[in-house]
Amino acid sequence: MSHLIAPSILSADFANLQRDIEMINQSEADWFHIDVMDGVFVPNISFGMPVIKAIKKHAKKPLDVHLMMVQPERYIKDFKEAGADILTVHYEACPHLHRTIQMIKAEGMKAGVALNPHTPVTVLQNIIADLDMVLVMAVNPGFGGQSFIEGTYSKLIDLDEMRKELFLKNLLLEVDGGVNDINTSKLVEQGANVLVAGNYVFAHKNPIEAIRGLKRG
Ligand code: DX5
Ligand code: ZN
Repeated sequence: MSHLIAPSILSADFANLQRDIEMINQSEADWFHIDVMDGVFVPNISFGMPVIKAIKKHAKKPLDVHLMMVQPERYIKDFKEAGADILTVHYEACPHLHRTIQMIKAEGMKAGVALNPHTPVTVLQNIIADLDMVLVMAVNPGFGGQSFIEGTYSKLIDLDEMRKELFLKNLLLEVDGGVNDINTSKLVEQGANVLVAGNYVFAHKNPIEAIRGLKRG
């Protein structure tokens, strides 16, 4: 499988959201990446259900919803109703992660777990077989446009190793933060299947071309 590209709506022009959604529809992008921030788990607030519902109305590709919030288990049904196809919660925000993952799957969504840059991949050992995706944060969550943390590569290598050892061939590894034309090919070589890109795509003079470049790797 070639890698998937998920442009992050966080860097879109919110006053022209429909235009930017149509651009992604027409591009070679595979998913919409949607960042929900609560101002508690991360020092920023983004948007919630009404905006996700509005995106869903126009999006012709799956919604990959990344929850940077405390107690995400309280809203799993609501995210499903808003249109999420893949729902990712943070390891650091879920004391009862196993139950939360089962709740996401029971709603018919794919389930992902995100790891902050300082969180070792070994904490996933007893849950990884239940997951559809692991999201590796390559920046500290909360803002778009930050620089890629180099330590991400070794986490990816370790996760790829775990995936092989446990025969989890369908497990997706997603990298989020600071992805650009320079680090894409190395990330894919080291096992990444999904690349999120916000600033690189939307600050580019030709976002469609930017997405095409990331897709070619
Ligand atoms: C950061 C978000 C990312 C962000 C990526 O907290 O989870 O999805 O939008 O943006 P860039 O690609 O600009 O680092
Ligand atoms: Zn994200």
